[in-house]
Amino acid sequence: MYPLRPAKNTVGTAYNLVHQDMLLQDQLKSDGAFAELVVAFQQHFDEAISEHSYFSAPVVFNDVMLQKYEPKSGGITPHRDRTDYRHIICLFVLEGFGRFYIADDRNKTNAIEIANLPGDVVLMPGPGFVGLNNRPFHYLENITQERWVFGLRHDQSKLD
Ligand SMILES: [Fe+2]
Repeated sequence: MYPLRPAKNTVGTAYNLVHQDMLLQDQLKSDGAFAELVVAFQQHFDEAISEHSYFSAPVVFNDVMLQKYEPKSGGITPHRDRTDYRHIICLFVLEGFGRFYIADDRNKTNAIEIANLPGDVVLMPGPGFVGLNNRPFHYLENITQERWVFGLRHDQSKLD
């Protein structure tokens, strides 16, 4: 990956306002370890789902994002990922600790904590997963140790 840059502190407006406190990079070096991970994971993923019908169209992991959260970072407040992110969202937790939740809404109603230790891959549905239009609210807080996450997504806007 190339050097990280600070993410915008806020995204959206008014009721949809999301606060985030992270560094990120979304451009891959073509010859780096992350590029190898993308190729290998895409291959394993395709094999794993080949006999299932979870998705109505091929899943193409064409969007990458490396995120770094410093200790005591504010994390990211409840939000849903963009509608262009289809099918499935894969978050590889590389290092560090923070508490990750899904919830029914921005007010954290019925929040459920999701295990996300280093080595875990958190999978979240996107629109199109098993024919549904599911975009769960999710958030990250209580970062206690420098946290690195590599995200893989299918960005439909890059394919249309
Ligand atoms: Fe998100």
